[in-house]
Amino acid sequence: MEIYPLVDDQTVLRVPRRTEQQLIDEFGSSGRKALATGHEVSTVTETELHDLEHMEGYIGAFVPDTTPMADLDLEGNFRYYSLQRRVKVTKDLRSCTTLLDERCSRLSVQRFLRDVRDMFDALGLLPDLAGKGNLVLDRFGLVKLIDINNFRPLISDQQIDDALPDDEKVFEEYILGRRSLEEITPAGFVDDLGHPIGDLTLGHLRTLEVRALGRDHKEVDKDPFYAPLHNERRQQLLSLMRPDIGLG
Ligand SMILES: Nc1ncnc2c1ncn2[C@@H]1O[C@H](COP(=O)(O)OP(=O)(O)O)[C@@H](O)[C@H]1O
Ligand SMILES: [Mg+2]
Repeated sequence: MEIYPLVDDQTVLRVPRRTEQQLIDEFGSSGRKALATGHEVSTVTETELHDLEHMEGYIGAFVPDTTPMADLDLEGNFRYYSLQRRVKVTKDLRSCTTLLDERCSRLSVQRFLRDVRDMFDALGLLPDLAGKGNLVLDRFGLVKLIDINNFRPLISDQQIDDALPDDEKVFEEYILGRRSLEEITPAGFVDDLGHPIGDLTLGHLRTLEVRALGRDHKEVDKDPFYAPLHNERRQQLLSLMRPDIGLG
């Protein structure tokens, strides 16, 4: 199958980390038939396609044109690809620590924040802003969300409170590593690589407000949207999982 020659200097071919077949084996399939005879789209891919379709209405303006497709690769493995317009990256917003110089970039970040929050209110999902290069400025200085395969929920403070043990002695067992943290980690809190994407993203959104837009951090911290960042139980769980991102 001739797939790779389709890519030119305007386009990137996105191939997921795992083959579609692996996803099917791991997570099963809902049975929806893909284009290739005898293969089915896994539930994971279905979720991704579903999220993509829904996020379009909120943050579509920040996503490079994308055409998803399911097909066989040159070795006959069934894969889920997408073709995406290539973005010329001028700045990685993940490592943006100072006020953006260009007014149009600040406006674009403001709109992105507004639209992400609307999307979160409506769908309960946040994009993955945790990875390097996931959110960038393009050659026009406008925000582009490149990583569009990982929309994640933000687990509520209540769910975390319910999952964590009240007994300090039991809690200590987890601190000392005698018991597995998986037992007290609410479903969906981390992605398949163990990263708490929702929480990391919320932290990045706050950083964008304070650093990239220069908003007063005291005001930003009064915003209920960012309240989970100050929840003590949540920070306890995070610091157990990732000592590098805990408390503060
Ligand atoms: N449309 C695109 N334009 C330019 N670079 C891209 C594009 N899509 C992906 N990339 C490059 O590939 C990297 C990985 O893509 P990403 O969607 O973040 O996947 P991953 O799930 O591996 O983090 C990006 O950080 C970026 O450097
Ligand atoms: Mg990425």
